[in-house]
Amino acid sequence: MSAIQSALFSPFKIRGVTFPNRIVLAPMMQCKAINGDASDWHLVHYGKFALGGFGTVLTEAVAVEPNGCITTGCLGLWSDDQIPMLRRITDYIHAQGSLAAIQLAHAGRKAATHRPWEGYGPLTAEDASRGEAPWPIVGPSTLSIGEGHATPHALTIDEIQEVVKRFGEAARRADAAGFDMIEIHGAHGYLIASFLTPLVNDRQDAYGIDRDGRMRFALEVTAEIRANWPADKPLFFRVSSEDGGGPGGWDVEDSVVLALKLHQAGVDVVDCSSGGLRLSAVLQNQGRDVGFQVPYADRIKHSANMPTMAVGLILDGPQAEAIIREDKADFVAIGRQAMYDPFWPHHVAQQLHANQDFKKWDLSAGWWLQKRAGALDMIGYDPTGVRKN
Ligand SMILES: Cc1cc2nc3c(=O)[nH]c(=O)nc-3n(C[C@H](O)[C@H](O)[C@H](O)COP(=O)(O)O)c2cc1C
Repeated sequence: MSAIQSALFSPFKIRGVTFPNRIVLAPMMQCKAINGDASDWHLVHYGKFALGGFGTVLTEAVAVEPNGCITTGCLGLWSDDQIPMLRRITDYIHAQGSLAAIQLAHAGRKAATHRPWEGYGPLTAEDASRGEAPWPIVGPSTLSIGEGHATPHALTIDEIQEVVKRFGEAARRADAAGFDMIEIHGAHGYLIASFLTPLVNDRQDAYGIDRDGRMRFALEVTAEIRANWPADKPLFFRVSSEDGGGPGGWDVEDSVVLALKLHQAGVDVVDCSSGGLRLSAVLQNQGRDVGFQVPYADRIKHSANMPTMAVGLILDGPQAEAIIREDKADFVAIGRQAMYDPFWPHHVAQQLHANQDFKKWDLSAGWWLQKRAGALDMIGYDPTGVRKN
């Protein structure tokens, strides 16, 4: 069968940047950094997704200041010293024909925890004895995320302004490190999301009271990043379309209003996640159907009239292709399925008959696989190594 026109593999231009396809590696914290610094581990980790055909390799949450780390293993971009190693990573990603993107984040009241596989509980004095002391955590209010977790310090207005500046400085460094796109982490109950939701933000000043007040911090961060980020480079914003905190919380109507304001402030794409106000959304392993968050991307895209990214249990080619073709979102972010198969885009292209000739693979593998396909055909096997019916 000849190659077909695939929506998933079509390019998309935003500002001065052309995304080679619609497939983005979802941000996934690795807990492998030391003092916020990236290493060869990250080079190989992110590099493999570029080799695998991801049009955009988006990093995990990268903290804009040390106390914005979730765990002691989070990446950071609070110092110019952190630029050169990230530059090596973006250079490698570019050399494979992919774009490099970075998620800028502040963990807020969900900071200073154990790694997910250690239970995600709060760091304690016991952890201090093995060199992982907890650090003071901050939020819009003093409401903690749950029993046993530290009480956050409620940021003063001056302190809020300082954090806003940290986002801008990190954006400047992200540009110097060669990133093509920034995603602002406004989801999952971390600092920006905790300002948005009335379930956590009970402030009685300009950063609270009503929805406009609760959105102020997100919009100031966006403006500060835009002021420090080239006008020809795209900006994404990840939102928890619904905060998952129950009645009275932030909902999808709020997200539509926020998206409209973000768009005006220079955000190009809203990445539509959900939940995570208290615990990790993915840790809870609720019985969710494939593509469970796609309706949020669809709703926000068409109500706010701007591009969106869908994420969450997007597993195979036909599913991803349909999301783009049916105009439910403009991008798909692939998380755990990418962990399972870092070459997911190449394999999906095969599945969709969008790249029969292995041309998108690096020649070092693609040339051989194409040759093998002919040999396999002669003995009744398809190019992936599966026996034909
Ligand atoms: C190990 C792991 C780490 C994650 N870290 C982040 C993160 O740093 N920032 C973020 O916005 N979401 C994070 N997420 C959520 C993912 O980006 C994604 O939204 C979620 O896993 C659902 O997509 P999936 O079903 O394709 O995995 C993480 C998820 C996993 C599994």
